[in-house]
Amino acid sequence: MKKILVLHGPNLALLGEREVAVYGNFTLDEINQQLNQLAQAEKVELEIVQLDGEGEIVEKIGKARKTMDAIVINPGAYTHYSVAIRDAIAAVGIPTIEVHLSNIYAREEFRHKSVIAPVAIGQISGFGINSYRLGLKAAIDLIKK
Ligand code: DQA
Repeated sequence: MKKILVLHGPNLALLGEREVAVYGNFTLDEINQQLNQLAQAEKVELEIVQLDGEGEIVEKIGKARKTMDAIVINPGAYTHYSVAIRDAIAAVGIPTIEVHLSNIYAREEFRHKSVIAPVAIGQISGFGINSYRLGLKAAIDLIKK
């Protein structure tokens, strides 16, 4: 079975309580449930992790090299400045989809730049919980090709 790593970055464990007007009132568990349902229907295996630390994320991506067929990542605030995460994605060469709950281009200017986007296959931003579902669907379509 094909395997996809879903990586939630910093502060996403706080979904449901955190800036509800921006991110919605669903929890990370609810997102993960929906992703697991989609994965089951599409017959792919998911590993889902939430990591706050930049180094932990880099390490996780590095270890995915031999085990994962695709990555769906919400890098959170690291999106905007983490060259280390960008380099990790480039290094492993695993097709990676970048997702964001909010539309990062409609928010503060510092969120308009993603250093991850140039090494991702594509980016989905602004659809709330659906950003993840669309991102996972895109990853599944890619690896089934
Ligand atoms: C986010 C957008 C980022 O700018 C922010 O730092 C986050 C969440 C999103 O999903 O909309 O933590 O990645």
